[in-house]
Amino acid sequence: MEDWHNVDFVKSWDESASRGNPSRENQLSLLITLLSERCQSGDTILDLGIGSAQVEERLFLKRADVNIVGIDHSSAMLEIARERLRKTTLRNTQCVLYHHELADIDTLGFSHNAFSHVIAVQTLHHLEPETQKQIYGRVFDLVKNNGLFLLMDRVNIDGPKLNSVYAATWNWLENQSAIKSGWSGQYFLERLASQHDYPLSVETTVSWLEEAGFQAACLDLTLNRALYVGIKG
Ligand SMILES: C[S@@+](CC[C@H](N)C(=O)[O-])C[C@H]1O[C@@H](n2cnc3c(N)ncnc32)[C@H](O)[C@@H]1O
Repeated sequence: MEDWHNVDFVKSWDESASRGNPSRENQLSLLITLLSERCQSGDTILDLGIGSAQVEERLFLKRADVNIVGIDHSSAMLEIARERLRKTTLRNTQCVLYHHELADIDTLGFSHNAFSHVIAVQTLHHLEPETQKQIYGRVFDLVKNNGLFLLMDRVNIDGPKLNSVYAATWNWLENQSAIKSGWSGQYFLERLASQHDYPLSVETTVSWLEEAGFQAACLDLTLNRALYVGIKG
């Protein structure tokens, strides 16, 4: 069970974020490429669920001239983020971290069009579906015209008849992965079934992004992990 408020769990997650998640490296690489090519110097990016700021550490290797506003409800994750950002941020960029619940993002008082781009990596599936949908709407309001919402998240693969195919696909991914989890396909499925979170289907995600006002697409889908983009304007 993931406990983002437990210091030991959080430390171990930070040390092995890609273990059991063979597509994280590829999808992050694409997300950072798209974001860094699109950013202008001085842009401010909102990160929903910034965690330990692993995404920013990579982004700053390509774009050291952007500002970050990060929100997360885990003080343990934010503590690691502060340390990481202290080492990787240049003096003329700003990183502001909010210890805050994403469901209550409205109470932070951000203004309309406040952010150049918004990202959310492996976070929103922790929130109930209706809240995820509301957040898509808030993001549309918060991002500037032509801004991107890059959303990388778990996908609901719920189809018992396909379980043997999903398990075989997991085994194939595990074989190719540089970072081995040691999990069998069967264990991968059991682990998924025991998680108390709310991944959406690709279809639901894209259609809710569109309902929020974005032009949206799924850019990459690997078994139960996807990278989506929404563009405003
Ligand atoms: C899997 S970690 C991802 C961290 C980071 N985005 C990354 O990919 O490196 C998920 C993060 O979402 C945060 N989170 C989960 N539910 C949240 C909520 N309801 N409000 C704020 N943060 C939340 C957790 O504390 C955790 O830091």
